[in-house]
Amino acid sequence: MKRVITYGTFDLLHYGHINLLRRARALGDYLIVALSTDEFNQKQKAKQSYFDYKTRELMLDAIRYVDLVIPEETWEQKPDDIKLYKVDIFVMGDDWEGRFDYLSEFCEVAYLPKTPEISSTMIRNDNLNTTAFESLKNSLSNSMDKQT
Ligand code: CTP
Repeated sequence: MKRVITYGTFDLLHYGHINLLRRARALGDYLIVALSTDEFNQKQKAKQSYFDYKTRELMLDAIRYVDLVIPEETWEQKPDDIKLYKVDIFVMGDDWEGRFDYLSEFCEVAYLPKTPEISSTMIRNDNLNTTAFESLKNSLSNSMDKQT
């Protein structure tokens, strides 16, 4: 059995994530996703996810390409994970190209092309803009009501 592992936050799960997970799984027979914990995101990645760890885990668990979800708590855990889970291939999107080449001492390392024009940050920002626009529209309409 060929085991594949990938790491990430997977917040506001989108089709870029699904593409990555599908292609990662197709490289082997068993896909492990090491999901960044809320604490790791905040302290090490300076990232605040919209959904908490439990919710992100729930959604990843429901995806048929994902066989196991484990927590990502440190940058340094990768060699231990690879040994513990007998991983054959480590996979990341190519925004991380080169960053994890040192893991080739332990297993194969592959970077897959990112899906263009979609990211959790983009969805978060679009939602913020929409919310800001709606609240501006409401306050304008309220002040017009008062004037009539
Ligand atoms: N990914 C991808 N294509 C995208 C977005 C993400 O292939 N359009 C991949 C990343 O390269 C990574 C994995 O999905 O291997 C998890 O990425 P993550 O950082 O959680 O997703 P992003 O949408 O890039 O999140 P953010 O905007 O917070 O950086």
